Amino acid sequence: MDLSTQYLGLELRNPIIVGSSGLTSSVERVKAAEKAGAGAVVLKSIFEEEVALEYDDFMKTAKSFSGESQYFDYDGRKVPVEYYNYVVREENLNKYVTLVEESKKAVSIPVIASINCYFQSVEWLSYAQQLAAAGADALELNMFFPPTDFEQSRMDREQTYFKVTEAVTEKLSIPTALKISHYFTDLGPMIQKLSQTGIGGLVLFNRYFSPDIDVDSMELSNTFVFSSPSDLALSLRWVAIMAEKVDCDLAASTGIHDGDAVIKQLLAGATAVQVASCLYKQGVGHVADLLERLAAWMSRKRFTRIHHFKGKLSQEKTTDPSVYDRVQFMRYYGGKSKAVT
Ligand SMILES: Cc1cc2nc3c(=O)[nH]c(=O)nc-3n(C[C@H](O)[C@H](O)[C@H](O)COP(=O)(O)O)c2cc1C
Repeated sequence: MDLSTQYLGLELRNPIIVGSSGLTSSVERVKAAEKAGAGAVVLKSIFEEEVALEYDDFMKTAKSFSGESQYFDYDGRKVPVEYYNYVVREENLNKYVTLVEESKKAVSIPVIASINCYFQSVEWLSYAQQLAAAGADALELNMFFPPTDFEQSRMDREQTYFKVTEAVTEKLSIPTALKISHYFTDLGPMIQKLSQTGIGGLVLFNRYFSPDIDVDSMELSNTFVFSSPSDLALSLRWVAIMAEKVDCDLAASTGIHDGDAVIKQLLAGATAVQVASCLYKQGVGHVADLLERLAAWMSRKRFTRIHHFKGKLSQEKTTDPSVYDRVQFMRYYGGKSKAVT
């Protein structure tokens, strides 16, 4: 059985990618992902915001160097106050560059670096260039400008997705993927236009931290860290709708917990899938279960290659395309699907 596939122009031994998360935050974990059978890994993102927060923290606790108030002590190094920002940035980037370099040395599967920067920040390009130089096989732009800034226009926000993506893809010699949310006014046309920016792939969709409320303590809590299998529905629908309308690969993310979910996303038209929550819950060894189920199903259905069935149930290829557009729970449905009313 040949499970290999091409994603972003990279050869993957199979379509299962360990998604950007704590599961890929160290060389040891990247090695474990490869050992479990993953086709590729996306490293935990480097966040510009995290670097800025660390800088703020340092400034609060910074000690002057040997009583010289214009110099600060950074791990025994004498750093002029005005360079502090620069030093914290370099330290963080260097750590991430080392993660890319060491991961590349340790595994033979593709290693995709991931970055998240501020709205309109020049760091998008700067981080991207450094990580490409470090030897990453590809870069994933974890891009989300939350629609919660009421001073900013929707047009500004949307244009920034294009400006950043185009600037990065134009300058970079390695392939780029763009990981997005579903929070767009015109999701379908937006995905299509983003796919025409020169990127190699789109990841549909990222899933974000969402607060919960603890009714006993009446405080905010963080119950919803991991997805559940029913979260598959959103990305499954949009992968299927967009599969034949985009100019790049699609990787499915969110709610893929078992082998059937992998098969569904491939049938919908995904080139690869990214998994995180199911591995947090079941251990990274669960990749082998996903692969086993995929291979058994392919054998039962007499498919020998992924591309023999990829996209067979995309909106364009299915016999009842309207099912993907349907949103209301109405009594009369065509085809085999039955409504619950
Ligand atoms: C603990 C945790 C950390 C994550 N960190 C990142 C990250 O650094 N960058 C990123 O793009 N996505 C991150 N994600 C999102 C995952 O890559 C993935 O897109 C999301 O969890 C949906 O997939 P799932 O349903 O398989 O978990 C994180 C997810 C979790 C649960």
